[in-house]
Amino acid sequence: MVEKVAYSKGLDGIYAAESKISRVDGIAGELIYRGYDIADLAINSNSEEVAYLLLNGKLPTALELEHFTDKLLKYRRLHNRVAKIIKDLSMETPPMKVIQTAIAALGGIWDNKDGQSAYETFLAYISQVPLIVSLYWRYLNNLPVIEPDINLSLAGNCLYMILGYMPPKRHIEIFDKILLLHMDHDLNASTFTARVVASTLAPVSAVLSAAVGALSGPLHGGANERVLEMIQEIGSIENVEPYLDRLVANKGKVMGMGHRIYRTKDPRAHILQKMLRETVKDDESLKKVAMLEKIEECFTAKMEAEGKKIYPNVDFYSGVLLSNLGIHPTLFPPVFAIARVVGWSAQVNEQWQDNKLFRPLALYVGEVNQRYVTIEERK
Ligand SMILES: CC(C)(COP(=O)(O)OP(=O)(O)OC[C@H]1O[C@@H](n2cnc3c(N)ncnc32)[C@H](O)[C@@H]1OP(=O)(O)O)[C@@H](O)C(=O)NCCC(=O)NCCS
Repeated sequence: MVEKVAYSKGLDGIYAAESKISRVDGIAGELIYRGYDIADLAINSNSEEVAYLLLNGKLPTALELEHFTDKLLKYRRLHNRVAKIIKDLSMETPPMKVIQTAIAALGGIWDNKDGQSAYETFLAYISQVPLIVSLYWRYLNNLPVIEPDINLSLAGNCLYMILGYMPPKRHIEIFDKILLLHMDHDLNASTFTARVVASTLAPVSAVLSAAVGALSGPLHGGANERVLEMIQEIGSIENVEPYLDRLVANKGKVMGMGHRIYRTKDPRAHILQKMLRETVKDDESLKKVAMLEKIEECFTAKMEAEGKKIYPNVDFYSGVLLSNLGIHPTLFPPVFAIARVVGWSAQVNEQWQDNKLFRPLALYVGEVNQRYVTIEERK
């Protein structure tokens, strides 16, 4: 007789791992990385420091940061064989599949390489995923390939290689904050995927390509692109209220609103909104910000009146912000992957420090006591 244990669809409300990396408090609207409030890190830190923090559990000293950055720089060049694969695929393959394939291909080079620790392999991928994305983008658009610049930060080089020109300093800083904000978010679907695959002791390439696969699903990433489509459809600030009235009456979903965990505004949305206001450059982008803020105001009031706590999530302001930096919506999910590869790496590292193979049970609800019948007798 099998002992009865709790069942929760989608593991909703179930703790499936212990972690010291990040914590989401959906009621307080708080996200911490290793004990530091995300707003504190967004104001005072940068992607390299936060990557170190997530991976190592502490903020680096100046010397530790220098070594860490040097290691990241060591991998800021893509292997020719992998660059060729990206070139061959980029025209007809969606970007997340290109990233998955390139990560798997890099596994052929790095997995089990003598003298290369898993930690070093994580750093290699953290450096290379931005290169994969930018190369994909340049090939897709028939643009000249941009060589990496080792004098730029992780965010600066990534933005430079995608855009093909040196972005303004403040844009690099904002892109850096966007990456930092997306690096980890406790046991979300792709991170859980990474930990499950890691628990089999599969190599880093298998772990990360599986995580990218999970992230490519529309229920995980991608609402920021749909926010852009929504404001395009609404057209003007005067149409916001009638649009929302219609949508709510038809039980439709407002993109970028609501979250499984947060019952208040996502703390990352506050920071992204502030940065978005800063990047307004013309009447058109001013109009977009005004529309988003009007949607937030009207929609949250409508939901509150119905007793529902539905507020902006991380995707609500990030799409327009990324567009203002010159990033095309096709690259929104890849940018998410560039950031999240840091969190996946930290979580897998943690998984391996106290590993146990994930092997939950399925609650069988199918037929029993069936008897085999020959093919001639089957109806
Ligand atoms: C993220 C999401 C899937 C969470 O769904 P969820 O866990 O079912 O959300 P909740 O349980 O809090 O929903 C409570 C109620 O609010 C409604 N609701 C939730 N998000 C809504 C939204 N964005 N627009 C309109 N209504 C919404 C639900 O339909 C539900 O209504 P009901 O009680 O009448 O059935 C959902 O909010 C959503 O689809 N958002 C839009 C897409 C998006 O931005 N995704 C990115 C997430 S980071």
